[in-house]
Amino acid sequence: MTANPYTPGQVPRVFAGRAAELRRIEDQLARVLTFGELGGPLLVFHAPRGIGKTSLLRTAQRRAEELGFVAAWVACSRERPVLPELVGSLRTALERAEVLPRGGAGGVWRKRLERVSVEVGLPGAKVAAEVASPPGEKPDDTLGLAPIHALGTLLHDAAALVRRRGGAGLLVLVDELHVALPDDMSILLNTLQNLDGDREHNPLAVVSAGLPVTPEALTRAATFGERSAFVPLDVLNGADARAVLTAPAEEAGVGWTDGALTAVVDEARGHPYLLQLIGSGTWDAARPRRGTKLGLADVRRGLPAAQQQLTAMHRARWGSATPTEQAFLAAMAATGLDNVTRVAIATGMGRDSRSISAPRERLIDKGVIEPVGHGLVRFTLPGFGAFVRGLDDA
Ligand SMILES: Nc1ncnc2c1ncn2[C@@H]1O[C@H](COP(=O)(O)OP(=O)(O)OP(=O)(O)O)[C@@H](O)[C@H]1O
Ligand SMILES: [Mg+2]
Repeated sequence: MTANPYTPGQVPRVFAGRAAELRRIEDQLARVLTFGELGGPLLVFHAPRGIGKTSLLRTAQRRAEELGFVAAWVACSRERPVLPELVGSLRTALERAEVLPRGGAGGVWRKRLERVSVEVGLPGAKVAAEVASPPGEKPDDTLGLAPIHALGTLLHDAAALVRRRGGAGLLVLVDELHVALPDDMSILLNTLQNLDGDREHNPLAVVSAGLPVTPEALTRAATFGERSAFVPLDVLNGADARAVLTAPAEEAGVGWTDGALTAVVDEARGHPYLLQLIGSGTWDAARPRRGTKLGLADVRRGLPAAQQQLTAMHRARWGSATPTEQAFLAAMAATGLDNVTRVAIATGMGRDSRSISAPRERLIDKGVIEPVGHGLVRFTLPGFGAFVRGLDDA
């Protein structure tokens, strides 16, 4: 038997589809590469959990590095400021690409990186900058200018250094952007705005990803945040979903019967995580040898293990919801519909439809439900409605 090539919960061995989204990134990289200028506005991919944001960013990182970019990666977290981490990651990336000079000049660079890291990370950075700015000349933003200036010149100098050393430029990747602290978002947006003012001298691009609330959070952090390039990621189409299953198996010399493929694609409904999960379960059930095919019987034998994992995820989402949120979810599930209206939920909860906004927003924030237009919402994880309905019977 050969090793299981599926990767539920990890960056995929073979990244399938997403041609249009990759093109958005490659267009920016091409601009940096060809003209040595800023790639474009902040690119923001947004989608619920498990749709493939991190995988897309990792794929972009790999492509960029192949083109001669130096890529710095950070994932935001609610617990700590992200910008010092970004500076640290930039340093590692520059060192790994052997762009930072050795000896004297390198030492100056490293000291500077440390200084900027402190500057953008100080909780008091904001206050300090306001105090430092001349009286009567308050920046119109509430945010201090010092960290923005520090980050801007650092990104500029680092990108220019990469170019001087024969590289393409700099790619900054920011994952989980929706949880960045508002100050961090604001500093990042202001920095990019400044770099855009001198675009032809800033050979870099910034690509980010977050939950569907990201556009709103960015616009709250800085009004011009709304001028970022927002790209929603949807579930995979049929052909791409099939490729998620067939491509990794093919590398191991294993095929899929058409019936088995159709069954898994129907079950997963284009959700990349589920495709990987069921693919993995099928593989483990079959333990296929090179030259064989995975069939419908293998899918059926593999499903219970995948189902168990999925149920554990449902349970975790349910468990982390407050009683009011649970009542909201139960009311949604009770309708048995995919897309549920505000009125139906309010009626189910025995509340006025205006009073359900708070739990609705929080559940969207958590990525458990998502808006689908006209005030309707749906669950982001397939099978969640059935899971919640099943709780009643237990
Ligand atoms: N284009 C793709 N081809 C193959 N597998 C994919 C693809 N996109 C995502 N996956 C798989 O789907 C799963 C979820 O992907 P990923 O972690 O990138 O999602 P995400 O949107 O970042 O989720 P989260 O919001 O939880 O971080 C992973 O197991 C990954 O292997
Ligand atoms: Mg992710």
